[in-house]
Amino acid sequence: MKVIRTTNHQEMSKIAANIILDRIKSSSHITLGLATGGTPIQTYAYLAEDYLENQTSYQHVVTFNLDEYIGLPKDDPNSYHYYMHQHLFSKVNIPRDQTFIPNGLTEDLAAECETYEQKIQQYNGIDLQLLGLGKNGHIGFNEPGTPFDQHTHIVSLTRSTIQANARFFGTVEEVPKQAITMGIGSIMESKEILLLVSGKEKNQALNKLLHGRIDEQFPASILNNHENVTIIADEDAI
Ligand code: F6R
Repeated sequence: MKVIRTTNHQEMSKIAANIILDRIKSSSHITLGLATGGTPIQTYAYLAEDYLENQTSYQHVVTFNLDEYIGLPKDDPNSYHYYMHQHLFSKVNIPRDQTFIPNGLTEDLAAECETYEQKIQQYNGIDLQLLGLGKNGHIGFNEPGTPFDQHTHIVSLTRSTIQANARFFGTVEEVPKQAITMGIGSIMESKEILLLVSGKEKNQALNKLLHGRIDEQFPASILNNHENVTIIADEDAI
């Protein structure tokens, strides 16, 4: 794993945005895997800024988001559909039918997981997967104990994840208890992975990822087995 240490969150985000832009510009078709949460917001802001200044085109870009809560309508401000529209999709020229996010409102969730995974395969897998890191080591919503070979599936969120995400909702009770997430198997099949880690509260998790052993109880540890991972971490996190 290649580790890039930055002095602050802004620099981390700028480097991440530049890597994403480089991959977009140097390929005729690219499939990006995207993350939500607090960590990549500034990265998306830099992509939006670049679009205003340079009109980098997203016409040939396809995106798959890592996850979505079960039970939230797409227009709920806490849904990841809303987040992606707000932070990226409405700011660049990506065709809406080239953006995929699991549908957490469908009646047949198992079929949704299967279709989502098939869609990723139809596009020949993910070229560049952007990831954030949970304090408990989760990637996507793959909580500790998730089998490393699992693909898109339904998860029950752990108490620590529900509490961490309560900051975006009014109360802990309002945080959905379940989500659909790409699995660790899906993530590991990506050709390239970019993991962003920012802030003191991620320090322990990053340390465990860099120096601990590979263990299903710490999902991100599997990234040590991927041959093309870049971690961009700010000074607080490393
Ligand atoms: C988001 C996701 C999660 C987050 C992780 C870190 O799509 O899959 O794994 O990346 O929970 O969240 P933040 O960035 O809010 O600390």
